[in-house]
Amino acid sequence: MVPSSLEPTASISAPPPIGVLISGRGSNLQAIMTAIDEGRLHARIAVVLSNRADAAGLARATAAGLVVDVVDHRAFPSRADFEEALARRLREARVSLICLAGFMRILSPVFLEYFPGQVLNVHPSLLPAFPGIDAQRQAWAHGVKVAGATVHMVTPDLDAGPIVLQAAVPVLESDTEDSLAARILVEEHRLYPLAIAIVLEQRWRLDGRRLVVPR
Ligand code: GRF
Repeated sequence: MVPSSLEPTASISAPPPIGVLISGRGSNLQAIMTAIDEGRLHARIAVVLSNRADAAGLARATAAGLVVDVVDHRAFPSRADFEEALARRLREARVSLICLAGFMRILSPVFLEYFPGQVLNVHPSLLPAFPGIDAQRQAWAHGVKVAGATVHMVTPDLDAGPIVLQAAVPVLESDTEDSLAARILVEEHRLYPLAIAIVLEQRWRLDGRRLVVPR
């Protein structure tokens, strides 16, 4: 049968290459890998980079046959030198999008200017509440009744870039910091592949700092 020229071609286009940056266990990396394997995310992980050789997530990536590399920030005389090396490695891999997934280094304009609008982060709070480290503990200690997760674009201001997606979870009276963090993590894993797909589809635009996806 001759295929109709009206058939969609998006699903057979080459999957866009992405880079994933980690520092630790890599459960969000795993969620991205699983979404790709299950056909929920049309992308290819071109490289997984870590600033720490002991990041547990590196083993997940290696076991899956992904290209992994360690760029240890302590091996460089300055933040700028570290970021130049990181950017060089990502440019070599020709990534169209960089996904921070528990990457515990702040990225300065030196890095971000190489990849304008091309860096995403997942954060375990409903931003702009509780930026920075230990966001789940901050939310729990503050006594909020609703917590959540945010995927946002990375800008030089910490955890303050345009928001791509958010999801809320309830905070229960029986919660500990750990049980709340676990409930938030489920939403991080659900949201991140969805947000990556939205950004890769390139249908979004910025209206001020509001990220809008036309229907
Ligand atoms: C996640 O909670 C993420 O939101 C935060 O760091 C944690 C990383 O977890 N930025 P993992 O390494 O993806 O398991």
